Amino acid sequence: MNKIIIANWKMRLGIKESVKLAEQYAQRFKDAARSADLASRKVVICPSEISLTKVREAVKDSPVKLGAQNVFWEEIGSYTGEISIKTLEEAGCEYVIIGHSERRQYLLENYEMIHNKTKETLDHSKITPIVCVGESIEDRESEKRENIIISQVQQAFSGIQLLPNQQAIVAYEPIWAIGTGQVIRPDDVENMHEMIRAAVVDMFGVDVVKSQIRIIYGGSVDGKNVKKLASLDNIDGFLVGGASLKINEFAKIAESL
Ligand code: PGA
Repeated sequence: MNKIIIANWKMRLGIKESVKLAEQYAQRFKDAARSADLASRKVVICPSEISLTKVREAVKDSPVKLGAQNVFWEEIGSYTGEISIKTLEEAGCEYVIIGHSERRQYLLENYEMIHNKTKETLDHSKITPIVCVGESIEDRESEKRENIIISQVQQAFSGIQLLPNQQAIVAYEPIWAIGTGQVIRPDDVENMHEMIRAAVVDMFGVDVVKSQIRIIYGGSVDGKNVKKLASLDNIDGFLVGGASLKINEFAKIAESL
């Protein structure tokens, strides 16, 4: 599978700003797609929900794909303020971020909800779920860290099977590294990713993991620290927040993969 770089614009841009940045992405990666090297990487942008359809227009003639930052776990019904996977699909999304730590923290999302959202996505759409896992600073310092991550992965995917045409992404994002500029040690990422890979292999089998599941890293990735991270075997891509708001910085990350 080719590597993937996902831009998470969070709640940082209005509609006009999102379109403007999306146009810069489209231009940059349209040019880049001509170079064989960059053509093999997937680039995804996840703007705010209300900007999705406008951003889709802005990137439609480019290799840049569209993703959403959240989805609800029911197909349809009286769920004020929520958005269904079918609506996201209609808006042109091919990816959706599920269970980002900011939603776990501020919206009290738990892994039962994350599981339901992942299942809903796979059951009722062609959209690829990007399932976030990651430990807090307290967990990091405790011996339970590895068990916590394994349990998050297991809860999110329990009982879920991937059909041959489906893919999933696990984003390992240590909460203490998100938006803090605290850079994780490469050997630390390598160990965590190896462990996550073993957990998904246990659930899905080696072949499915090899061809249908990516494990990506997120947390203060930027144009400077990306080189060291990109050379690691177990990283299939990045989920990028702050650095995705500047096209040159983001392109640097994409080019280093
Ligand atoms: P950051 O955010 O790159 O700003 O740390 C990453 C994320 O929240 O996905």
